[in-house]
Amino acid sequence: MSAGWPATLRHGEVTVRPIRSRDGRAWRATRRRNYTWLSPWDATVPPGTGERPASFRSLVSRLQQQARQGLGMPFVVEVDGRFAGQVTVNNIVRGSAQLASVGYWLDRDVAGRGVMPTAVALVIDHCFRSAGLHRVEVAIRPENSNSLRVVEKLGIREVGYAPRFLHIDGAWRDHRIFAITVEDCPEGMLARLSQQTQQ
Ligand SMILES: CC(C)(COP(=O)(O)OP(=O)(O)OC[C@H]1O[C@@H](n2cnc3c(N)ncnc32)[C@H](O)[C@@H]1OP(=O)(O)O)[C@@H](O)C(=O)NCCC(=O)NCCS
Repeated sequence: MSAGWPATLRHGEVTVRPIRSRDGRAWRATRRRNYTWLSPWDATVPPGTGERPASFRSLVSRLQQQARQGLGMPFVVEVDGRFAGQVTVNNIVRGSAQLASVGYWLDRDVAGRGVMPTAVALVIDHCFRSAGLHRVEVAIRPENSNSLRVVEKLGIREVGYAPRFLHIDGAWRDHRIFAITVEDCPEGMLARLSQQTQQ
């Protein structure tokens, strides 16, 4: 197993734990119910790649393989013990970089109460403290005001703009790039978030 994986992280009503095959039923039902909510922000398969949209089964097997190789950490988010979405640490690069990117989505039924900021804070603290990473990036479409609020609440700094960066909702989309390093948050992300919400 690689550094920091597997792991289960908790704060209040929010638990973040490894995705598993038996999440299939809840994952499919949640995705179906949230189709309109999620599709503007969902990764799609670029034309000409020969790839097909992933089923849950193939998604989990790819994510678990990446985790075994130390290339990712695929978590699900639970709220009060119920499946509520995903936070995935992708593209782990070791060597002189020690970086990764984080992607996420949440069931609309539990949106708007700070679940994802908490889940992302738990995961970034874990990346820095247990997985030995130095930098975590988040890429967000400029139109995605809800996701922009997540990085704003966490104090993750904007570092750049990537034109036509990812294939999302059927086309290559520009993204704003946010990043945080260990040095930016010595107190930890969860502590920073808790302080901010108390103010
Ligand atoms: C982005 C996302 C994960 C945020 O998760 P969350 O736990 O709801 O985050 P927050 O509670 O901090 O809410 C963030 C903002 O979303 C907006 N929001 C909250 N609930 C909402 C709802 N039911 N409908 C529409 N917007 C809502 C609010 O503007 C909120 O900001 P505020 O707290 O300043 O009012 C979630 O909105 C989501 O899954 N969106 C679709 C997928 C997606 O965009 N993924 C990220 C791709 S980069």
